[in-house]
Amino acid sequence: MTRGNKILIVMAAGSGTRMGASVPKQFLDLGGKPVLRRTIETFVSAVPDIKVITVLPKEHIPFWKEYCVANDFNCPQLLVAGGITRFHSVRNALEKVPDGAIVAIHDGVRPLLSQKLVSGMFSKMEKGKIHALIPVVPSVDTLKVLDRTVSGELTDSGEGIDRSRVFGAQTPQMFLSGDIKAAYSQAFDTSFTDDASVASKKGIPLSFCDGERYNFKLTSPEDLALARMIISSWPR
Ligand code: C5P
Repeated sequence: MTRGNKILIVMAAGSGTRMGASVPKQFLDLGGKPVLRRTIETFVSAVPDIKVITVLPKEHIPFWKEYCVANDFNCPQLLVAGGITRFHSVRNALEKVPDGAIVAIHDGVRPLLSQKLVSGMFSKMEKGKIHALIPVVPSVDTLKVLDRTVSGELTDSGEGIDRSRVFGAQTPQMFLSGDIKAAYSQAFDTSFTDDASVASKKGIPLSFCDGERYNFKLTSPEDLALARMIISSWPR
């Protein structure tokens, strides 16, 4: 089978309440452009023939369409309404995906990944030996397993954890479209914290590659401030 068609599903249907802003974080300004536009542009620059499916909160679809027209953001995108959780949003997008493609599922709020990460991961997938590719970063902090008392205080559990075996999983996570569609036909489970966990439960073997420290998820106002500082130091 050729693995020709490349698809990006960019997840941007969250409400982003932890950021405390009036608009969801994927639409906030990052160096003159919305976070989501920066994210999509990196993929399109890395893989010009990629097909983009953008998953948005239903109520923000008109806003995003207007933004794209008014600001000459002409990248063709199929806009899909999200669901109640990220899992349901991914499932909605996968309905639009044909078999025989390589699908990258990426959080729209990880705008600082490099083109090199995107193209390198697609090349690995195209070689045809692996089923799923997940970028990971090693744990730099010492990890503690703690218990919480009824009053909310943290106490030492006495359990150790081997930091060398613990990694943070990032996105984009890449899959063969037939595999990931089958995985997402499973019933929702609260243990599904990323696409890899959904794939793994279906028995799809996972492969891993190096992620990037800058490819962090914008979660809090501090993350956005950090991203703005990083962007301002990049050559134009
Ligand atoms: O909320 P969290 O930061 O984990 O969201 C990760 C990504 O998933 C974000 O880009 C967010 O917009 C997206 N998401 C989604 N549909 C939801 C919830 C989150 O597309 N229902």
